[in-house]
Amino acid sequence: MKFFIDTANLDQIKEAQDLGVLDGVTTNPSLMAKEGITGDENVIAHYKAICAIVDDNVSAEVISTTYDEIIKEGEALAKLDPKIVVKVPMIKDGVKAIKYLSSKGIRTNCTLIFSPGQALLAAKAGASYVSPFLGRLDDISTDGLQLIEDIRLIFDNYGYPTEILAASIRGPLHIVSCAKLGADVITAPLSAITALLKHPLTDSGLATFLADHAKASGK
Ligand code: G3P
Repeated sequence: MKFFIDTANLDQIKEAQDLGVLDGVTTNPSLMAKEGITGDENVIAHYKAICAIVDDNVSAEVISTTYDEIIKEGEALAKLDPKIVVKVPMIKDGVKAIKYLSSKGIRTNCTLIFSPGQALLAAKAGASYVSPFLGRLDDISTDGLQLIEDIRLIFDNYGYPTEILAASIRGPLHIVSCAKLGADVITAPLSAITALLKHPLTDSGLATFLADHAKASGK
């Protein structure tokens, strides 16, 4: 399973990259705004800075909502760096644009997926990734993990190469559950990724090992 980090914060991206387990980055307009990145030139410079840190898979989201504009913006984003994946919202013009962009060899990530039917449409259009938002479904008392399971079943039924990128991950258990369900990718905040490291028995076990070694060594 690929690990992406869901942030536009360069320090956090570097920290995840340094851990050696990072396969990519997802951003969105809200995450860019959170880092205070505004204005076309700054946004472009920020995408380039992210691409300089990671090996591949930097999702850059279009803010256009019409077919022609999505294509224009998507092609410009794709030209920034071969690592860019153009993130397109699940709307009618978005699906049409995904079809066009994928026919031109530009990788796409269809975002704001909340139903299996939306994922199916995006796969039919040739999206490289679909991003089901499981945390936001959980927030409205709907089972986000069930969506991952349903999309996995549908994609496997027909052999769609589109990868399931589980997004809106809120904690380490979401990551583990997605792995069990066969999501191809998770994108998560750094806190959820590093939380996978933790277990109290690891900490107490290590403390005992080190204490026993020190005692046996006469230290
Ligand atoms: O990047 C898209 C998605 O992961 C957003 O997550 O936490 O805003 O629901 P969240």
